[in-house]
Amino acid sequence: MKILILGSKGMLGSECMEVLSKEHEIIAPDKKELDIISWDKVIETLQEVSPNIILNCAGMTDVDACETEAFKLRKINVEGPRNLAQGAARFNCKIIHISSDYVFNGQKVLPQPYFEDDTQDPLSAYGKSKVESEVGIRENAPNYIIIRTGWLYGSHGNNFVKSILAAVMKKKKKILKAVNDQFGSPTWTHRLALQIKELIKHDGMGTYHATSEGHCSPAQCAEYVYSTLKVKVKLEPITLAEYPFVAKRPVNCILENRLLKKQGVNIMPAWKKDLKTFLDKNKKALIKEARSRKR
Ligand SMILES: NC(=O)c1ccc[n+]([C@@H]2O[C@H](COP(=O)([O-])OP(=O)(O)OC[C@H]3O[C@@H](n4cnc5c(N)ncnc54)[C@H](OP(=O)(O)O)[C@@H]3O)[C@@H](O)[C@H]2O)c1
Repeated sequence: MKILILGSKGMLGSECMEVLSKEHEIIAPDKKELDIISWDKVIETLQEVSPNIILNCAGMTDVDACETEAFKLRKINVEGPRNLAQGAARFNCKIIHISSDYVFNGQKVLPQPYFEDDTQDPLSAYGKSKVESEVGIRENAPNYIIIRTGWLYGSHGNNFVKSILAAVMKKKKKILKAVNDQFGSPTWTHRLALQIKELIKHDGMGTYHATSEGHCSPAQCAEYVYSTLKVKVKLEPITLAEYPFVAKRPVNCILENRLLKKQGVNIMPAWKKDLKTFLDKNKKALIKEARSRKR
């Protein structure tokens, strides 16, 4: 298959390129080559490339910045995916779009998970933009997959696992504040890319949840990272409300991969299993990167 990947320089897009290029022909323009907010450029590229699948990993992902940059957010997270969906319809190809656990309000009683058809009620501008992105895909593309995921980490780009390490390696903190009343499932971008590969093989269609199995709080995740890498640090638990985030975040971010399981294509393992593999594989590089991180 010929797959056009957008956001290919980002955390998930880079991993998808690596994984999918083993079996598929990949075309991966960067933002300069194809800005998804330009309808003309989207159409020109689709005409030129003629892909079987558009994989949209592009997005504005700084949840706090999204609160104050409404115009940019709308362009990238709502109009961009809609352009791609309309392009997919015009050129008769499938579109795979990545959405988020932040489409829910997180008020479900813990540890009950969210299902694909639960009511959406986002708390943040970012969450609202992802809800609208989904609408744009469903209303315009006849052949689509929407994948809701959350708490991504991986080798590429910035993520919370790297921040957890940088706090100790770079900033030399001995005591670290970590949120202990929010729950989700840390999900390895490499595994999600493999899950996307499975869905392509399966020719899936519709809205899927795709996160690792099991759940934890950021504090429990940090504890697991430090103990696996044998880093000594004392964790001071705080509540989500105490953390100085700009955007409101859901407390319950647990997603159930119900449709993946129903269709027999769920390959997501327990979050600890993948996190351990990731840390074991990348220990040296992660520590080096954490020590040299700018922020
Ligand atoms: N990270 C998570 O924990 C998480 C959780 C749930 C869902 N998601 C979703 O998963 C997807 C991928 O996330 P990620 O963490 O891999 O994001 P990321 O690392 O921030 O990468 C996003 C990519 O999109 C590109 N981009 C931004 N605006 C664009 C535009 N107008 N045209 C083309 N490309 C554009 C960015 O390029 P520049 O860097 O040059 O701007 C970047 O390469 C997003 O849809 C996100 O909402 C992420």
